Amino acid sequence: MTSHALHHPWWHNGIIYEIYIRSFCDGSGDGIGDLQGIEQRVDYLSDLGIDAVWLTPFYTSPQADFGYDVSDYCNVDPLYGSLPIFDSLVARLHERNIKTIIDFVPNHSSIQHPWFISARSSRSSPHRDWYIWRDPAPDGGPPNNWLSLPGGPAWTFDETTGQYYLHSFLAEQPDLNWRNAELRAQMMNVLCFWLERGVAGFRVDVLDRIFKDPLLRNDPPNPDYRDGQPDFMRLRSVNSSNQPELMDVIADMRTLLASYGDDRVLIGELYQPVDQLVPFYAGPNNGVQIPFNFNLMWQKWYPPAIATLVHDFEHVLPRHAWPNWVLSNHDQSRIVTRFGAAQAKTAMMLLLTLRGTPTLYQGDELGLADVPVEQSKQQDQFARVGEGGRDAYRTPMPWTQARYGGFSELREPWLPLPPDLAHINAQHQSKEPLSMLNLTRGLIALRRAEPALALGAYHCIEANDSLYVYERSDEHKRFRIILNFTDQIIHCAHGSRHGHIVFSTHFVTPRGCAQEMTLAPHEGIIMAVP
Ligand code: GLC
Repeated sequence: MTSHALHHPWWHNGIIYEIYIRSFCDGSGDGIGDLQGIEQRVDYLSDLGIDAVWLTPFYTSPQADFGYDVSDYCNVDPLYGSLPIFDSLVARLHERNIKTIIDFVPNHSSIQHPWFISARSSRSSPHRDWYIWRDPAPDGGPPNNWLSLPGGPAWTFDETTGQYYLHSFLAEQPDLNWRNAELRAQMMNVLCFWLERGVAGFRVDVLDRIFKDPLLRNDPPNPDYRDGQPDFMRLRSVNSSNQPELMDVIADMRTLLASYGDDRVLIGELYQPVDQLVPFYAGPNNGVQIPFNFNLMWQKWYPPAIATLVHDFEHVLPRHAWPNWVLSNHDQSRIVTRFGAAQAKTAMMLLLTLRGTPTLYQGDELGLADVPVEQSKQQDQFARVGEGGRDAYRTPMPWTQARYGGFSELREPWLPLPPDLAHINAQHQSKEPLSMLNLTRGLIALRRAEPALALGAYHCIEANDSLYVYERSDEHKRFRIILNFTDQIIHCAHGSRHGHIVFSTHFVTPRGCAQEMTLAPHEGIIMAVP
């Protein structure tokens, strides 16, 4: 598909960087990351070359799910700063041409939100219908078989009013009822509140869950369930999620965002195979611009499988739609742990040379691996109710080799730092030409400098047991990307006598180019070809 016919908003060639606030940088000295800490690291973000940060929730919250349980959607938790600190951060980022995207958590509030406190106080509360309540089943059990994602039933019985309330996540996160017009209007006001403070858009949390079957029918068993998968996957969540009304709400959100400028972007958290992401794109003005594509995360790290995924996504995309790729996030094991340290560099090259908006998760640019957290220090409540906790993927950014890794000055960080702090820290890696950090910076700089790499067409040349070779091109330039997925030296004929290598994961000084060429184990190269 050629892409130059499209109008390109900033996020087509922009790179989004996920900041998991609790673990980015502690500016207040309590061992927990915060907005002040991010402000201290604006130079780092600017040097990295990213275009936008996505900030995970900083709203007032009892922190049962570290901010994904909101008790005031229009305020900042003192743990993370204040509204003036938020405004100052947005301004500082803006000075460096970095946009601020924030998390929006519409599916559920905190159990301590005043709306829920009111709702559970009596069946006649004006907020009762803002949540989803049902009588017990005839046997006294939950109204249906729905399962919560962290584990266990999605219903909790409320003694005071004698009904169950629905929670797709923890019992501390009751699901909001988007069929209630007042609730819906309030949530749209929340978007306005933050748009007026200058945010460039929203990453909408569990977007596909906000509407459920009005009849609350049981979810059917999932015939594809395999041992070892999370318990909630035993059922196909066809009734507990993804209902038709969702597209109307998405369209309303898009209209609202557009009224603040056509550069505002709506990102949806959607765990769907590529063909099922398509409906979320809807039309040019009424769908999600970036329905997060997480499919690389589950992909076998094998060239033919990856090339097939890329091909499939490219071919199902509607004409107006723009692809996007995500390699990891705060809910999933990190790339170094999933694919191995040696593969992490080619994985980064892949992410930053595919067609589509890349989202980079903090720490991946340092090659940070999952950091095991001993049981007595575990923080994530998801571990308490069933599914494994996510602490290992959320450990603090290692900035220096100093005590507390430069993450915190005064207090031990809330989660442990990596054991190999001497190498896995930003200060050290800034000085090492072939570090993961400089590799990432270099790839981002190249992508920014070369429209063909950011916006050009994608064309697969070959994907075999060892190599993945593809090109990105526009009417002016052509780049060939060759990724060696093996731990062997590979000789191939994908070079070009008239080309030149502009980037290698393994060599700082570019080497000559000929038809026959040799790649080091796990090397990735980008070659300009005539
Ligand atoms: C999303 C978030 C995750 C959170 C959940 C509930 O999946 O990424 O961290 O626990 O939603 O809000």
